[in-house]
Amino acid sequence: MKVIVCKDYQEVSEKSAEIVAQVMKDKPNAVLGLATGSTPEGMYAKLVEMNRKGEIDFSDITTVNLDEYFPISPDNDQSYRYFMNKNLFDRVNIDKSRTNVPNGAANDGEAEAARYEAFVRSLGGADIQVLGIGRNGHIAFNEPDVELVPVTHVTGLTPDTIDANARFFASADEVPTHALTMGMGTILSAKKIIILANGKGKHNAVMKMLKGTVTTMCPASFLNLHDDVTLVVDEECYNG
Ligand code: PGA
Repeated sequence: MKVIVCKDYQEVSEKSAEIVAQVMKDKPNAVLGLATGSTPEGMYAKLVEMNRKGEIDFSDITTVNLDEYFPISPDNDQSYRYFMNKNLFDRVNIDKSRTNVPNGAANDGEAEAARYEAFVRSLGGADIQVLGIGRNGHIAFNEPDVELVPVTHVTGLTPDTIDANARFFASADEVPTHALTMGMGTILSAKKIIILANGKGKHNAVMKMLKGTVTTMCPASFLNLHDDVTLVVDEECYNG
């Protein structure tokens, strides 16, 4: 795994945006695999800025997001669809019909998971997948466990993740208990992967991943099975 150590969050955002922008320049109809959470917000702001300056063009881009709460309405301001519209899709020249987030409002979660998996595979996987990492080593909603599901699936959220996400809701009781998420196999089908991390809270998870071995107890460690992964990390997170 390649590691880019940045001096601060701003630099993490700039470096990761540059990597995504390069993929878009090389392939104007690229498939971008995108992530939500606080970590990539600065990267999205940078991509919006680059689009406004005419440096990058989203008109032929397709996007696939990693995950979505389940059940949740896309209009709910805590849904990941809402997050993506607000942080990126509504602010760049993208064709919204080519932006894809698992449908949190589907009647049948398992059927939606199967549809989404088939759709991502039909695209041949993402040209680049952007990832965050949970403080427990999760990737998307693939939580540490004795077994992991390789494909897109419905999953329960761990108490740690509910607790970490409670900051976005009025109370922990309001955090949805389930989610639709790509599996590690779906994620590893991307041609190129960048994983972003900042702050001390992610230090232990990042170190476990960088050890180079693979364990289901740290889903991020599965990225060691892929030969084009770049960690973009700030000094605070890297040094602990
Ligand atoms: P965060 O979430 O960017 O909000 O820290 C990342 C994650 O949990 O995957």
